[in-house]
Formats: sequence, structure tokens, C-alpha cells
Amino acid sequence: MSKTYKIAVLPGDGTGPEVIAEGLKVLNAAAKKFGFGVETKEFDWGGDRYLATGNVLPDDAAETLKQFDAVYLGAIGHPKVKPGILEKGILLKLRFDLDQYINLRPVKLYPGVETPLAGKGPEDIDYVVVRENTGGIYTGIGGISMKGSKDEVAVQSMVYNRMQVERAVRFAFEQALKRHSSEPPWKGLSNKDLADGKIGQVTLCGKTNVLTFVFDLWERTFYEVAKEYPQIKTGYCHVDATCMWMVKNPEWFDVIVTCNIFGDIITDLGAMTQGGMGIAAGGNINPQGVSMFEPIGGSAPKYTGMGVINPLAAISAGAMMLDFLGESEASEAIEKSVAFITGHKLKSMAAGKMGYSTSEVGDLVVENL
Ligand code: IPM
Ligand code: MN
Repeated sequence: MSKTYKIAVLPGDGTGPEVIAEGLKVLNAAAKKFGFGVETKEFDWGGDRYLATGNVLPDDAAETLKQFDAVYLGAIGHPKVKPGILEKGILLKLRFDLDQYINLRPVKLYPGVETPLAGKGPEDIDYVVVRENTGGIYTGIGGISMKGSKDEVAVQSMVYNRMQVERAVRFAFEQALKRHSSEPPWKGLSNKDLADGKIGQVTLCGKTNVLTFVFDLWERTFYEVAKEYPQIKTGYCHVDATCMWMVKNPEWFDVIVTCNIFGDIITDLGAMTQGGMGIAAGGNINPQGVSMFEPIGGSAPKYTGMGVINPLAAISAGAMMLDFLGESEASEAIEKSVAFITGHKLKSMAAGKMGYSTSEVGDLVVENL
């Protein structure tokens, strides 16, 4: 009997529904081709529902989503809603309540896609960022006191416990194994590394020179966990230097592991180097629970309803979802189709400049599956 996956679909705000429609088109085509089923249920959580009802998210939202195999999310963010309400009330709340403690963000330049990095091509820009996704500054520990007075103080702390750091770091080493155990070793390895049996690399991105408490914990944990993975080479970069190397020598990276806020920042930079928000996908992962896959760009409200937004990030997020559900063949087929159409069809990744409409891009991916 073939499997049927239950997917909760949260199209969200702005252009979210348009890109998710294309993602679902591709998922359904892949399901047919590879012999599995997809059963979807849509939820209207987002800005419009909030404006109409005053309610950001139903109280039982997380419990509801736990009944599904995965969550497929469009975008959260509405121009008429004050920044922070929907982001914290929906996106961050679901990440926390579903304990999606990893945000996995591939930085991969597809063929034919223009990168602002001069002289760099697809063979140079191909790594993943493992962003810790539920801790650090995002826990919101802190407060504001004497607000409005000249003595006002505000505190927001970077909080990590050993368990949170360890599980993120371990996930990163497992990713490095996954990337290279059936594929050739990572191309950045030296002959000596290869002779030593190394197959991949994990780089810790931190700030041990200033955040001497939190990154002391990260650094010690990182090197302790690394001992369990003798095939994986280790590296360390301060976050500011990471930004520099991501631009200057992206080929130096294989897997980067970092804290929540640094991961947030460096993955926007990474997305730009891979051709922009139209192509960058990510997964909020709970390896033991329900994970949520999303294009990492926002809701791009100014393009809503115009049929010009690029759906490839959402389509790639769908491919990541299939990989995590165990349908790796279907996932790879989608990835290959995306790479084919970026290489042979699309003029640009930017909204309105693709040479095709949003739904035509979805059709192209389906045709080339
Ligand atoms: C992201 C976004 C979110 C984050 C915002 C919308 C809360 O920027 O997914 O990277 O900071 O994590
Ligand atoms: Mn972000």
C-alpha cells in the first residue's frame, strides 16, 4: 500500500497563497508520479483573519497541527498589521509550540541563476545553514522598565541551555553526514583531510570574542559533539567574518551551525547570494515531531494577486518537506526540475521578471518532473 501524507497548509498572507498553490500543484504531480498520496487541509491563519476576528491563532493551533505529518506555510506578514503581532503570534509561536528547534536553510545557487557574487557559480555556492530555532534572543526573556522616562532601560537576553545547543550542533553533524555519505566528499577538503577519512565539514558561526558566556557554551559543546563524528572536519568563524566569507569565499562552507539570531541574519545574506528571496527555501524542523516548511522570503504584499511572484522557493520548500517525509526520490526529482527550469527557462528570479507568470512557473516544474 502506498503512503498518504496528511499536510496542513497555511497559505498565510500577501503572495503566500499564490506560491503555495504552485507548490501544491507540484506536490500533487510528484505524488502521482512517485506513487504516494497527499491529503491537504487548509487553515486561514494570517493577517486577514486577525483583522476580521482580532484573533491571531486559535488556542489549539499547535495541537491541531500535531495531527498532521507536516505543515506547509506560505508567508506571514500583513501591511495593515503592526510588525511583530503576526510574526510572534503565528510564525514564532508555532515554531516554539511544535518545538521546531532547527531551521534548516540551504544556500544553493541553481544553474542559470544570477548571483551578485562576481566570479562565483553553482559549484561555489552550495551549503546549508543549521539555525537553532527556538532559543537565544528569540525566547523573549527580558523587559523594559521606566518606559518613557530618561532612565528607561530595556533588556533582551541571549539565553541557551546545554540541551538546546547540543541538539542543534548534533543535527548539524548529522546533516554533514547526510550530505556526503552517499555523495562524494565535500569538495573543500584537502588531500590530507581525505586521507584522514573526512567527508564533510561543519563550521560553528559564533562570537566567542565578545559573547564569552553563550559562545563558550556553544564552542565547548561543538567540540565535544564533534568527537562523535570523526569523519567530519570542524571549523569556527565569528559571525562578522562569516558574513565576509559568505560573500568572498562561499565555497569554504559545507554546513554552518549557529544560534537563532545569527542564523536569521546570515540566511538573508545567503539567500541574496543564491539569487534572492524568490528561490530560498527553509524548513522548521522537529526531528521527532511535526515540521513546517516555508519559502524564507516574506509575504511580498505589493505583488499580491498579480501572478508575478516567483513560486520556486515555495516549490523547493515542498521538496524539502518530501525529503523529510521520506520521499527522497520525489524530492530530488523536484529539485532537478527546478534546476532545469532555472538553467533553461527563467529569465530572472525576481518578481515580474521571470518571463513567465507564477502559475506558468509551476507548470514548467511539473512538465519537467
Ligand atoms: C525568518 C523571519 C522571522 C524570524 C520573523 C518574521 C519573525 O525573519 O523566518 O527568518 O526572525 O525568524
Ligand atoms: Mn529572517
